[in-house]
Amino acid sequence: MDLRTTYMGLDLANPLIVGASPLSDDVGMIRRLEDAGAGAIVMHSLFTEQLVRDQMAAHVGMDYIADSNPEGLSYFPDAEDYALGPDEYLAQIARLKEAVDVPVFGSLNGMAGGDWTRWAGLMAEAGADGLELNVYYLPLDGDESPDQVEARFLGALAQVKGHCDLPVAMKLTSFFSSPVHMARRLEAAGADALVLFNRVFQPDIDIEELEVTPALTLSDPSMLKMRLLWLAAMFGKVDIPLAASGGVHSTEDVIKAVMAGASGVQMTSALLSGGPEHLAQVLEGLEGWLVEHQYESLRQMCGSMSLLRCPDPESYERANYIRTLQRWHPRPL
Ligand SMILES: Cc1cc2nc3c(=O)[nH]c(=O)nc-3n(C[C@H](O)[C@H](O)[C@H](O)COP(=O)(O)O)c2cc1C
Repeated sequence: MDLRTTYMGLDLANPLIVGASPLSDDVGMIRRLEDAGAGAIVMHSLFTEQLVRDQMAAHVGMDYIADSNPEGLSYFPDAEDYALGPDEYLAQIARLKEAVDVPVFGSLNGMAGGDWTRWAGLMAEAGADGLELNVYYLPLDGDESPDQVEARFLGALAQVKGHCDLPVAMKLTSFFSSPVHMARRLEAAGADALVLFNRVFQPDIDIEELEVTPALTLSDPSMLKMRLLWLAAMFGKVDIPLAASGGVHSTEDVIKAVMAGASGVQMTSALLSGGPEHLAQVLEGLEGWLVEHQYESLRQMCGSMSLLRCPDPESYERANYIRTLQRWHPRPL
């Protein structure tokens, strides 16, 4: 079965991509994931706060930084909390490139444009095949207009593209007022792929201690549905490839993502809990399913259930939402 796909301008043997996570900090694990069939690897992110710390620490004491930086760096983790420091990160790119044949994508995680984007060039020099840009920004203070928020994403992308010739995938949040329009703006600004979606940090509240508590739980497949909707909406409206990230756990999830329009399908939580063996099973299941359903290639399936191609596009729209609500009958209590 021909499982090949094109993602960020690169030919991948299959669409399964190891999503950004600490898995990439371990060369042995990445080798095992490649042996299990991974089509590409996204590295754990390099966070801008690490880079700002490093640069400023070279000139002045850290106490000064914590007090003077407008982003309040004192709230951010200490340098030793990050698995890999900036230089170590670049060295890890080189180690992974040496260890595996599949494409290795670096990941930059920041809030907007700035000097940190020059690390894109350093990642390129270290051998990365591409970059994932995660502009993690939540406009919590409400002072910026949607256009200003979008400008942060576009600005960061333009700066990263200015620093390297690598293909760049934008990892998006789902919080844009008009996600398809934003996808088009990113494509026009030079994005080589879009990743739907980043998982936004959702802290919990401790009601006794009156504290906001960090909560990182692994995903479950229910998260996938929102990705399917926007993949289906974006497919064919932009010419760059789309990748799913969030809630992909099984072979069925991969098939749904590809049918909705994904050329790449990232898995993180499922691999953090199931390891390379799980990836191998999902891949085997995908191949078996395509054969059984008489597909000739994965590409034939891509976007078949998108808004443009599915037999009943209205099923994605408001009428179906209303129908679903009206057909819900509460059970007698
Ligand atoms: C432990 C952990 C670490 C992660 N680290 C990163 C990261 O460094 N950069 C990033 O862009 N996403 C990171 N993510 C988010 C994942 O790449 C992915 O987008 C998210 O977990 C949703 O996919 P999933 O449902 O397959 O887990 C991390 C997720 C987990 C669970």
